[in-house]
Amino acid sequence: MGGSDVARRTIHIILSPRTAPTYTRISPPMPPRTDFSFHLQGFPAAGLSELRSYFDRLPLDPYITGIFRRRRFSHFLGTPDRLKRLDHTYFVQSRSVNELAGGIKREFAELEDGIAQLPAFRAIVATYIDYLGIDPETTEMGVHQIRILCAPEFSGDPAPEGIHKDGFDYVGIFCVERHDVVGANTHLYRAKDQPPIFSRELQPGEVVFTDDRAIFHYTDPVRPSADHPGHRDVFVITA
Ligand SMILES: [Fe+2]
Repeated sequence: MGGSDVARRTIHIILSPRTAPTYTRISPPMPPRTDFSFHLQGFPAAGLSELRSYFDRLPLDPYITGIFRRRRFSHFLGTPDRLKRLDHTYFVQSRSVNELAGGIKREFAELEDGIAQLPAFRAIVATYIDYLGIDPETTEMGVHQIRILCAPEFSGDPAPEGIHKDGFDYVGIFCVERHDVVGANTHLYRAKDQPPIFSRELQPGEVVFTDDRAIFHYTDPVRPSADHPGHRDVFVITA
């Protein structure tokens, strides 16, 4: 994608009311969005606490050195009320987008069965589909459920690979919980060697969407705000 295309794009920063999105099946589906570089908005925060036990049960990410990241990963197709988890598969990124783990077949535990029944999870997926205008029946959504842990003895690094793209068309970073942490500023960039065009500590109920073809992202380490462990919970959804 050329720089001129990026320059013509509109940048959206809108914090909309955290009301439940109405998911309406549009026939034929709307074409996916190409008119944005990044976009910040709210998503329904009601019921987010129901997700906590699912994050508490996340297994450790075996592909990093350290104990600061727990995660699961699944692919879904379908509308939020009829999500179909696809067959178990590896997660692979190319070396061009991930110098640390690119080219490695990473196998993560699937999201737990029950999570797709929770209204809070469905609202997150609905927010993703609604904003991006993707056809959820034909566009696979990769859902990463991630907890970054920190403690007085260590900080948690959400992006050990540094400033990067994920290698998809769209990325949505949904903040579900910040528990006794400071930091974790999410930064967006047009180029790795330029200053960020957006920086924000995402709060629970906030999502930032990026056009992953054009925009790089990075999140600062998470540190405890008190003399005990803390964590930050997110869903990162790619399509
Ligand atoms: Fe990423």
